[in-house]
Amino acid sequence: MTKWTLITGASEGLGVEFAKIAAAEGRALILTARSADKLNALAETLRTKAQEVIMIPADLNQLEEAERLWAEATAGREIDMLVNNAGLGRNGAFAQDTSGGWARELSSITVNITALTRLMKLAVPHMDNAGGGTILNVASTAGFLPGPNMAVYHATKAYVLSLSEAVAFELRGTKVRISALCPGATETAFFDVADMRGMRLLKLAPPARADKVAQAGWQAALKGRRVFVPGVMNKVFAFLPRLSPRAMVVRLANIFLAKS
Ligand SMILES: NC(=O)c1ccc[n+]([C@@H]2O[C@H](COP(=O)([O-])OP(=O)(O)OC[C@H]3O[C@@H](n4cnc5c(N)ncnc54)[C@H](OP(=O)(O)O)[C@@H]3O)[C@@H](O)[C@H]2O)c1
Repeated sequence: MTKWTLITGASEGLGVEFAKIAAAEGRALILTARSADKLNALAETLRTKAQEVIMIPADLNQLEEAERLWAEATAGREIDMLVNNAGLGRNGAFAQDTSGGWARELSSITVNITALTRLMKLAVPHMDNAGGGTILNVASTAGFLPGPNMAVYHATKAYVLSLSEAVAFELRGTKVRISALCPGATETAFFDVADMRGMRLLKLAPPARADKVAQAGWQAALKGRRVFVPGVMNKVFAFLPRLSPRAMVVRLANIFLAKS
């Protein structure tokens, strides 16, 4: 039976790159995001390489959509790779209702946390019954430290990292692997959606290329790495907060995440 790869957030950025990698490996793909037109255009370009490509548009900001997506995706199909990539953030002080305010924060929590968790919870028993599989959860270096001016986003990614590591441990001894990819700044539409352009962080550390980040994360997930941070500087950014006093970490994060 054909094994399928389901990629969320496949209309833009890292999701497009994951889809290209999966297609180049000759996999059968299920692409999802809200933008059906972009998914359609991408599917057309991938059909020559991929075994098959289907798209299921879904708005993961709607609570019931993750279940509807999974039900449609698995109707007569076995999925052995889930890339939980869809995500968003919002730049702005928590107390200020700018850049979409609560609606954007609620959306970040629903997409980054709730939908990701629901899909993972549905995928684990499905993959276990089908003889194994891989779940690649896209977290972030933001998950390693609190982020003033992006407080909710950092908290959602700390959740993704924690959840992934814990469930990966629970699943040791099974053939289901969970991998948390923790990219640093990566050049995608994310910065525009999150209103991050102008942040000091982006001036000090030029964003990485999305294709390179996706390729490194994909390989790490297939090798069974539970947590993977691509890039030397990102590894340093991820490691230092573990050794430094928390008060200092928050203070430094505040400087890097402010606009200059
Ligand atoms: N770029 C970075 O610097 C960076 C760094 C670390 C981690 N990440 C993480 O990487 C992942 C991919 O981000 P990216 O950089 O590729 O950002 P992006 O270019 O903005 O892409 C985000 C993707 O998520 C989808 N999405 C957003 N809201 C959605 C919703 N309500 N329902 C369904 N899909 C939704 C978007 O599709 P539609 O708009 O078509 O729905 C799009 O395909 C995210 O989890 C992000 O947190 C990014």
